[in-house]
Amino acid sequence: MAAHPRLICASADLAEGGPGVRFDIEHSGEAVPAFAVRFRGRVHAYVNRCQHVGIELDWLPGQFFDDSRLYLICATHGATYRPDTGECAGGPCRGGKLTRLPVSEREGAVFLEWKADD
Ligand code: FES
Repeated sequence: MAAHPRLICASADLAEGGPGVRFDIEHSGEAVPAFAVRFRGRVHAYVNRCQHVGIELDWLPGQFFDDSRLYLICATHGATYRPDTGECAGGPCRGGKLTRLPVSEREGAVFLEWKADD
């Protein structure tokens, strides 16, 4: 299947260090939860699966940043991740890394640049 951009949201929906936008990707015929956030001006997107137990990071939908707004945090046991790379920054993720998804931003909109079943 050819890669084709898919609209995630309007650029204005992602404020710096603010709430993320949740969306799904399709993988092996299943819907997999994912999310996008804005950090230092750029949009970053990841599969919404903590590297500790494998559950979604946000307890309150869209709340991915910690209080400092410098890290993404898993609400369940407090694993923290770097928003720009997805690398574990502390807590029980222990060297794990969020699965990064390619995104682009143009003309006021954010797009997923990922094909199903990559
Ligand atoms: S499931 Fe995320 S820190 Fe435990």
